[in-house]
Amino acid sequence: VLPGPVLAIESSCDETACAILSSDGTCLAQRVVSQDGHADFGGVVPEIAARAHLALLPGLVRATLADAQLTANDIGFVASTTGPGLIGGLIVGSGFGKGLALALGKPFVAVNHVEAHALTARIPGLVPGGAPFPYLLLLVSGGHCQCIAVEGVGQYRKLGGTIDDAAGEAFDKVAKMLGLGWPGGPALEKLARDGNPKTIPLPRPLLGREGCDFSFSGLKTALSQKLAPFGQSPLPRQFAADLAASFQQAVADVVADRITHALRMMPDAGLLVCAGGVAANSVLRARLETVAEQHGIRFAAPPLKLCTDNAVMVGWAALETCQEAARRGLPQPDDTATRPRPRW
Ligand code: KG4
Ligand code: ZN
Repeated sequence: VLPGPVLAIESSCDETACAILSSDGTCLAQRVVSQDGHADFGGVVPEIAARAHLALLPGLVRATLADAQLTANDIGFVASTTGPGLIGGLIVGSGFGKGLALALGKPFVAVNHVEAHALTARIPGLVPGGAPFPYLLLLVSGGHCQCIAVEGVGQYRKLGGTIDDAAGEAFDKVAKMLGLGWPGGPALEKLARDGNPKTIPLPRPLLGREGCDFSFSGLKTALSQKLAPFGQSPLPRQFAADLAASFQQAVADVVADRITHALRMMPDAGLLVCAGGVAANSVLRARLETVAEQHGIRFAAPPLKLCTDNAVMVGWAALETCQEAARRGLPQPDDTATRPRPRW
C-alpha cells in the first residue's frame, strides 16, 4: 500500500480544499475555503470558480502543511478530485496535484468526487458502529441528487437520480423566489420554522412511482404560481414562512418515499447514509431517520463539515482505493496520466 500521509485536493465546484491524512485515515489537518464572488450571480460561475481555485490553492496547501506541522517532503502521495465537476476547477486541482507529486517524486491518485462522498461514512470514528458494506447512500447537494447502493470500494450501483433539478438546486431556486439570497437552503430552513407546512398545498412529484428517481421542477413551478398574485410587491412574512415550510415538507415527503423504494431495491442494506449539503436540513434528516427505523436499519449522516465538499473525503477515498488494490493483489494506483472527467 502507498505509504502516507496523503495530501488531498478538492476543487470540483466552488469549495477549494486541502487535507492531509495519515495512512490509517487520521486527519492531520484540513482547510476549506468557500469561495465568495458567486452570490451576486445567484449560482456558481465556472470561470470565477476556476480562477479562484488557481489563486487559492498554493497558499491553502502551504497553510494545511503548516497546520499538520509537516513539509511537502513528508508527504507520501498526492490525491486530487478529477471528476465529476466543473472542468476548469478539475483542471486546476488535478494539475496542481500532479505537479506537486511530480516535483516530490511521489505517486498521484485520481479520485472520483461522488465516490469520495460515498465512502466518507467509513472514515474511522465518524459513524457509531462503523459503515460496513453494503449500505444505501442518499447524496443530496446543490449539484447531486442520487441513491447509490454502496457495495464495496469501487463497487457502486446507481439506483436512481434526479430527472431535472438536484434537491439543493430546488432549495436554492425556491429560496431565490422568496428573496432569501444564495445559496438559500439554510435561510429557507430558518424561515420555515415560523411557518405551517400544512397551509399551502403543493405537489409531491413521483410519489409512489416505481424506482427511486427524483423530480423537483414541478414543485418549483407550483410554488412560483402561488407567488404570481403578488407580482413585484413584497410577500407577507407569514405567507413566505408558510410557503417555505410547505415546500420543505413536500421535499421531505418525496425523499422519504423515494428512499423507501430504494431500500426495497436494496434489501441487504444495513445502513442508510445521507451526504451532501442538503443533509444539513433537520426536517429531512428526521424523516430519513424514521424511514431507516421503519426498515430496522441504522441511519447516519456524517458531521456537516464532512457532508459538504471537503478534501478529507478525497484523501480517505484515495487511501481506501490503495487498500482495495492491495487486497485484490493489484498494483497500487498511479494516475499521473489520468485526465479530468467532468461527467465521470
Ligand atoms: O454539498 P454542498 O455544500 O455543495 C454542492 O452543491 O456540491 O451543498 C450545497 C447545497 C446548496 O444547494 C444549499 O442550499 C443546500 O446544500 N443546503 C441546504 C441546507 N444547507 C445547505 N438545503 C436545505 N436545508 C439546509 N439546511
Ligand atoms: Zn460534492
